[in-house]
Amino acid sequence: MAEAPLLEIRDVWARYGEITAVRNVGLTLGPGETLALIGRNGAGKSTMLRLAAGVIQPYAGDVRWKGRSIVGLTPEQRVRKGIVLVPEGRGIFPGLTVDENLRMGAYWHRPRASAARKALEEIYDLLGVLGQRRQQPAGSLSGGEQQLLAIGRALLSKPEVLLLDEPSLGLSPKMIEALYGILEALKERGIAFILVEQYVPLALRLCDRVLGLQKGTVAISGDTDGVELERLTEVYMGGSELRAETSKALQ
Ligand SMILES: Nc1ncnc2c1ncn2[C@@H]1O[C@H](COP(=O)(O)OP(=O)(O)O)[C@@H](O)[C@H]1O
Ligand SMILES: [Mg+2]
Repeated sequence: MAEAPLLEIRDVWARYGEITAVRNVGLTLGPGETLALIGRNGAGKSTMLRLAAGVIQPYAGDVRWKGRSIVGLTPEQRVRKGIVLVPEGRGIFPGLTVDENLRMGAYWHRPRASAARKALEEIYDLLGVLGQRRQQPAGSLSGGEQQLLAIGRALLSKPEVLLLDEPSLGLSPKMIEALYGILEALKERGIAFILVEQYVPLALRLCDRVLGLQKGTVAISGDTDGVELERLTEVYMGGSELRAETSKALQ
């Protein structure tokens, strides 16, 4: 029998005041699965991640974790269950050091000191460059290093599902490459994630499945192998450049 999905969002609607941001959207994520969430600005991508993380609540539909509704649970309660959001803009503490920022991520599990140290060393191993910058204020890191730090902190909460909101935004090509190396490593370790990404070809190469939103509704849903190029370019940006790039990525 197939394993039950970890995360399941069923027919959700979400509103900000008078604005309906998503209508009747669903997704499922099984253990270790990776989903690229794409769409133009304002399509509802961040809203879907906020619904999963409990930052906002749906006004219709259901958000389920391992077969049970988690609607109404706070973000903190969901972190303890294993659902961790790395929000747009990273949300690190610029005045604290790299090390202090990472230690905050270990808070929810209250591990013994030796276990916490071990987890921290694993994160520094994974994140490479940050190991030399432990005592540096996070605010003095480059944008890319701050993004890696935010991901590192999320990992210390031991997520089963990581929600990544445009982690490549504003990064140099070199940092994007480093970021994707790390995402690849997470995938190999069996951490499931939803990746919101503006560089569609990159996300498609990495992820198993794709969900494309258009004005708050589902426009594409399926395996990244089977996704139709025409449909994809229509949902995303159009434009021959993206078309060519995407075509290359799908080969
Ligand atoms: N805090 C908010 N207050 C009011 N409207 C919002 C808020 N956040 C998002 N929206 C609106 O909801 C829609 C979806 O936004 P969002 O999920 O952020 O899109 P995306 O991440 O795909 O760019 C947009 O029309 C946006 O303007
Ligand atoms: Mg967004």
